[in-house]
Parts: sequence; C-alpha cells; structure tokens
Amino acid sequence: MTVVGSPVSRVDGPAKVTGAAIYAAEFDLPDLAHAAIVQARVPSGRIAAIHTAAAEAAPGVLAVMTHETTRRLPWRPRDPRPGVDPKAGERLHVLQGDEILFDGQPVALVVAESEEEARAAADMVRVDYAPTAAHLRFDPAYARAPSEATAKAGRPGETSRGDPEGAFAAAEVSVDVSYAQPREHHAAIEPHATIASWEDGRLTLYDKSQWVDNVRAEIAHVFGMEEGDIRVISPFVGGAFGSGLRTWPHVTLAALAAETVGRPVRLALTRRALFTNTGFRPHTESRVRLSATREGRLTAILHEATGQTSSYEEYAETTLTPARQVYACENVATRYRLIDMAVNTPSPMRGPGAVTGELFLETAMDELAHALGMDPLDLRLANFAEADPDSGKPWSSKALRACYEQAAARFGWAERPRTPEAKRDGRTVAGSGMATAFYPAHRSKASASVALYANGGAMVQAATSDMGPGTYTALSQVAADALGLPLEQVRVEIGDSAMPRAPAHGGSITMATLGNSVADACASLLDALHALASEGPDAPLRGVARADVALADGALVAGERRVPVTELLRAHGRESVLAEGGSQPGREAQDYESAAFGAVFAEVRVDPELGSVRVHRIVGGYDVGRVVNPKLARSQCIGGMVQGIGMALTEEAIWDERLGRVMNANLSDYLVPVCADVGELEAFFVESDDRIFNPLGVKGLAEVALCGVSAAIANAVFDATGLRIRTMPITPERIVTAQAARG
Ligand code: MOS
Repeated sequence: MTVVGSPVSRVDGPAKVTGAAIYAAEFDLPDLAHAAIVQARVPSGRIAAIHTAAAEAAPGVLAVMTHETTRRLPWRPRDPRPGVDPKAGERLHVLQGDEILFDGQPVALVVAESEEEARAAADMVRVDYAPTAAHLRFDPAYARAPSEATAKAGRPGETSRGDPEGAFAAAEVSVDVSYAQPREHHAAIEPHATIASWEDGRLTLYDKSQWVDNVRAEIAHVFGMEEGDIRVISPFVGGAFGSGLRTWPHVTLAALAAETVGRPVRLALTRRALFTNTGFRPHTESRVRLSATREGRLTAILHEATGQTSSYEEYAETTLTPARQVYACENVATRYRLIDMAVNTPSPMRGPGAVTGELFLETAMDELAHALGMDPLDLRLANFAEADPDSGKPWSSKALRACYEQAAARFGWAERPRTPEAKRDGRTVAGSGMATAFYPAHRSKASASVALYANGGAMVQAATSDMGPGTYTALSQVAADALGLPLEQVRVEIGDSAMPRAPAHGGSITMATLGNSVADACASLLDALHALASEGPDAPLRGVARADVALADGALVAGERRVPVTELLRAHGRESVLAEGGSQPGREAQDYESAAFGAVFAEVRVDPELGSVRVHRIVGGYDVGRVVNPKLARSQCIGGMVQGIGMALTEEAIWDERLGRVMNANLSDYLVPVCADVGELEAFFVESDDRIFNPLGVKGLAEVALCGVSAAIANAVFDATGLRIRTMPITPERIVTAQAARG
C-alpha cells in the first residue's frame, strides 16, 4: 500500500483549524505600522488637486503619500511571465503620476499607527478630479484584434482549419447563438495583504501569493533591485483562484510605505478594494455557430468571443481553445477580440479561458442536440475526439468515454424524467443537463530539496504555494513513498522565495510539476545515502549497486541487509543528508497533447413562478490521471462544482456603465453560493495513470472541476423550462422576464 493514492487528511489541517497557520496579514512584526488606500472615484481623467492636510493632522498618522510626494521608481524592463503577465502594455505605475485609469485606482496611501487610524485618515483625503471620457460600455464597436505578442503566447486572434463557413452554409442542421458571461471575481475569503519590512536595503515581503518567485521578480523590477535582496514569504493562502498569480500594485505600495516611515508596514486590502486592486474574470460575449449532419456528426464549429481588458494592459484568455480541441470536427474557425475599457486589468480566475469557452460551447452543443432531436450525451459521443483534432497528435491519455458512461449511469441519465408530468413536483419542475469538461494539462520546470535527519524525519522544501488544494499533503505523500517513511515523518515547507525555485501554483500544474520534482529530489537523496553506505572499507553496503538498494521503514535495504538511516548518519557524524532535484517537460510535450477530462451531469428544480433555480444534484466523473489523494481530489471537485453553481446562478459584478464602477463590490451583493445553495454533489474518478505525461502519472485537477458545470446547469434549466437564458447568471429576474416574453 502506497501513501500516494490514499485518502489521508490534510497534513496542515490541524494548523488551520487551530489558528496556528499564519497568513500574510498575521505576521507579528515589532513596530508594525498600517496603511490604507485612497481609491479614485472617477474611471478616467487626472488628479487636478489632492488635499491631504486634514489626514496628515489626524491622530496616529505617520505619512500621507500621493503621486506628488512619492519618489519615482525605476520600473526596470522585465520579461513578462508566460501565461500570467499581460503580453502587451505596461502595468499600473502606482503613485507615479496624476493619471486615473480606472475607478478604484489607488491615488493616495495613508500610513498610521493602527489600521483604524489609517482608514479614518484615508477618508479625510479629498481629491479634485479632471475627468475625461473613456470606454465604459462593453461595446463591440470598440473590439480589436489582440496583439502579435498575445497571439504568440497561445491566444491567437483568428484560427481556421478546413472550410468552416462553407460547411456551415451547406449544413442540414445548425444553430447560431450568442451568449454573455459577466465580469466575475475570485472572492476568496482571505483578502490580499502584504507586510513589507526593510533592513539594510534588503526587503522582506509577507504576501498572499500563488507565486513567491514572481513577486520577488516583479518587485525587483519595480524598485530596480537585485532579486537576491528580496525575500517573499507566503506559507498559507486562504483561497486565491488565480488572484495570487500576479503581483498587484498594493505590494509596491506596502514596500514604498515601509521605506517612507522606516518601519514595517502592513497593507490589507478591504473587500471593496479587492474588486479593483486585484484582477477578475473578464466580461466575455460570444457567438457560436455549430452545424451537423442529420445523424449528429459535427460539420462546422465557428466560435467567436470578445473579452474586456484594461486601457493600459492587454489581457487575453484561452476562451476558444475548447472549440478547437474538444470535438472531432474538420471545419473549425475561432476569432478572439478585445475591448479596451476603463477597468483595472483582468486576470486568470478559476479555470481561466476554458471555463468561459466551455460555458458557451457546451450550451451551444445542447442547443444543437435539441435542434437535431438527439440525446445531448449521444451528440458528444458521436463527435468524440480520439486524437487532438487541432494538432492531430495523440492524447497522452484520455478516459473521457468511461467518464461519460459511468457518470451517466450514476446520475441515471437514461432514466431522467422527460414528460411534463414526470418533471413536475408541486411548485417545481425538474430538469437535467450535461456537459463535457476539458482542461489542457501542462507541466513546467521546478526544483525541490529534501533533507533526511538523523532522527529519521525528512524535510521537503520548494518555493511553491498551497492555496487550498492540498499541496502540503500531496507532496508529503510523494516524499513518504519515495523515502519509505510514514507520512508523519515527512514535513513539507513551501511558500518562501529562499527555497528551491518553482513556477506558478496555478493552471493545475502543481502536482505534475512539483510532484515529480520532489520524487526526483528523493531519488537524489537515495543516491547520497547509497554512497554513504557503500563507499569506504567499512561501508555496510560495500559493493552493493545503487539499483539494488531501497529505502524502507527508515532503513536502506539491500536483499537481507538492512542499514537504519539513523545509524548510518551517526556513523558518519552527520546531522542530516540534503539532496536537490528537479523535473521539467520532455519530448512528450511535443509528441502528445495532454488534458484532464470530465463529464458533468446536473439536475435542477425550477420554480417557474418565482424564477428560482435550485441545483438538486451534480454528478461529475473525471479523468485527471493518477489520483494522489482521493479525499482531497473529491474535495477539490466539489469546490469546483460550487463555483460552477455560482457562475451559473449567482455571480456577477454589476457594472454601472455611466459611472464606470462595480456597484456590488462586497460579499453581500456579489453573491457566491452558500451551503443552502448547494445540492447533493458527487465526484468520482476514472484513473488514467498518465505515465506518458510524467513519471508520477498525474495530469492536474483544480480547474477541470469547474469546467462544464455552469453549462450543465444552464442546460438543465432549459430542460426544466424550455427557456434558454443566454446571459449569465440565470437569476430569477431573467427567468421571469424570459417567461413573460414567451407569453
Ligand atoms: Mo488558477 S486561475 O491558474 O490559480
């Protein structure tokens, strides 16, 4: 029995429930001062004057910083990080000038003895604005093609294969439908916060981050420092879902404030500030055209999408990847456009791109199934992509067919109620819908270290993060197996830029990336132990080959011989043995396409008179490669389903296009699902153990768990009511309005 594959509980669970886990805002530094942001209240223009005298005289205030008082920072050139930093434009140069680019932009920072004093004084800063006109409306008339750089980074403006227009025009059956998904926010419980502390020109940042190395690189770029003079610490992250991939302006503000007052400074964003001082899922509108033969073979997929970006940076998503890769179809065209608006820059959020694209594609597939009079599941099976339809390459693994079959069986898809009488239950009407889930799997280059101590314990270190999926636990499991130790004797430390380098904790790449790096470090450790045990005249395993030695129960084992590690280290006068290792993609990345897959089935109950939708149950079957920890994996899937319920039914940033402002920048009006909104959720796995993709056999989970969920729910609402709500979320108002329009 290996530890990998076992449903062990979170190793960091006790620290989290007892409060021993320390989050960014909680580090207790001596002499800590507190900062509060003053946010712009116009979306575009200039600061004509800024009045700070009252704030400066307020109790406890140490400094009031504006663009007039803040030193000019170097903003050294820096290569953008693939997939994370926008490919064009320049980040917000916070407090470096009088220009206002979005409502909510920081225009001043107050530093005080306490957070309350800083906030009270921030309210006293008065700003005179000289507003200018700006794009405040999501108006397709402004749409433009993405830049060359963005296209090169895998977000092409246009793609085409075969003859999509011709095939569509000649089709026997087709649909031509348009959808809208609103701007959505990560809404993690832990707010972004940074504590900055300077000592002898060196900067330490305690920051909420999914990528400490990126924070270090970004701040080095902003301040013109050497990366070696910056340390970023982020051991625990209370949910981030993509918001912690970039280094937002408040990190620069915290570092500037600490420099200005000569003390450590804490800057914790308010919930309102989170809506404009970190990114968001961009408002995206879409047109999908699908055509098929009478038998349900797809003859054309034409998918267009337009997303919003800011006026100063270009952020584009992989919204159209699913249209190119999910179904076998010879004629496919995609077209992506951007609208520059007076908003802060969007960012990856919970399955960026694919989740949005699959909402559109999977709803359109349901509309096509309806037009064909075909079962929606049969339509998916009729167009199953045996190889990647875009590149023609084989999948490194694909157990999607089994996901469809097993999830349909568990859900009872074939037996779902179909007649109005069977669907009706008192006031409510039941409906069932399904969707495919697809998320490309990648891995990246990473390193890790592992130390084995004379007391028998091991310590793994890597500069990755754990925003909640259970990285501490899963890496502990990998190391426990590789070192032949019980889980309790492995300690994992992460979230510190002083540790071996790791890429972003995002894009569902962490286990495929770090899992293999930790396994490699453990193999190197075994090499070192073997050398200690086999070299020298008195060596207990003298002459024994490395391949014949294994670690088990804290001892090197070779046939009948057993050398406890504790004794081995003591004999050499060593406290510990340390080894480093790493992993990176190989040839398989060129020869194969890799992706996580799933099949999602949802049942809703709609009250047609009230327009209310309740998700009664969701069943999802997933192929995520090898499952390291079934308990945590299920937990992640259920989290994804809950987020999908939010996308389908509740989440929407209300944008006032006259003011250019998010009107519900709080958690009482921006609605994330609560337990009462969540029905029965079932997630299970069809393991594909993908050793082609990487030695550990994992593909990546996280994001695929959200894919398809909102489409399955929207399709179930249609099944219940006959209403297609093509603008998300499906609120009671939209259902009642659509009902009235139908008459
Ligand atoms: Mo994820 S949106 O890559 O954190």
